[in-house]
Amino acid sequence: MTERPFAGDTARFYRRYRREYPPELIARLARFSESGRGRLLDLGCGTGQLALQLARHFSEVVGIDPEPEMLREAELAAAERGIGANVRWIIGRAEDLGRLEATLGRFDLVTIGTALHLMEPLPTLGEVQRVAAGGEVAVAYNGSPMWLHPEPWARALRGVLEARLGTLDDIDFTAEALDGADIAMRELGYSHIERWEHRFTEAIDADFVVGHILSATSTEQIPPGQREAFAQEVSKAMAAVTTSGRLVEEVSVRAVIGQASQ
Ligand SMILES: C[S@@+](CC[C@H](N)C(=O)[O-])C[C@H]1O[C@@H](n2cnc3c(N)ncnc32)[C@H](O)[C@@H]1O
Repeated sequence: MTERPFAGDTARFYRRYRREYPPELIARLARFSESGRGRLLDLGCGTGQLALQLARHFSEVVGIDPEPEMLREAELAAAERGIGANVRWIIGRAEDLGRLEATLGRFDLVTIGTALHLMEPLPTLGEVQRVAAGGEVAVAYNGSPMWLHPEPWARALRGVLEARLGTLDDIDFTAEALDGADIAMRELGYSHIERWEHRFTEAIDADFVVGHILSATSTEQIPPGQREAFAQEVSKAMAAVTTSGRLVEEVSVRAVIGQASQ
């Protein structure tokens, strides 16, 4: 794996092609900000998907991520939406939380959106428990890997990807990470641990599939010079399995939510 998988164009594709979290999850998490006065920490915030959607419900939001180019996109996304006064971005990793704790203070909610699989669950949720003492922690995944979906278009996509990248794992790392979060929270003494899920279907097209995959692969895996060819391969594969050009994605957004002990 490359050292900076979310650098360069991957960050730009991430901001443009990752769908928003559903309003149902935002409403669920907004409850943890009493009278809108809560403080939110979004760890592994990337381009700010979750942090920015929650920002209007919290008085203060801090997003932490090790990839400066993802944070640059987060800044642009915030400016685009006219959000910013209550949000700040910090370059850092989950592993830095202990060091940052004294300056950051305590949070009412800590979110880890589509990112726990890139961290060590037990030490991370241990550190998070300290900065969220008595507050809530939500590990969320905005869907599961597209190439593992059962629909014919997703199987066709998998074929295109495997021809380029080699055999892909059958393991759903998002489900594994959620199970890992659940186990770690129980081991660490979190309380009120809840599994949350919201399912819906959405019409997508080949352009969205290409953009989504480019947001999930590094520029070493699919270099910019090969993007056009990749887009054509995907379009051709999609056209072979659908006559209408209309693709439907079954999306499952899941979270493990728990209360950190005091
Ligand atoms: C798939 S993106 C998720 C972005 C955003 N949170 C979302 O919900 O869409 C994963 C992010 O985790 C970050 N990341 C990777 N390792 C990390 C670590 N050890 N600590 C904190 N963030 C990390 C990456 O830089 C990347 O921006």
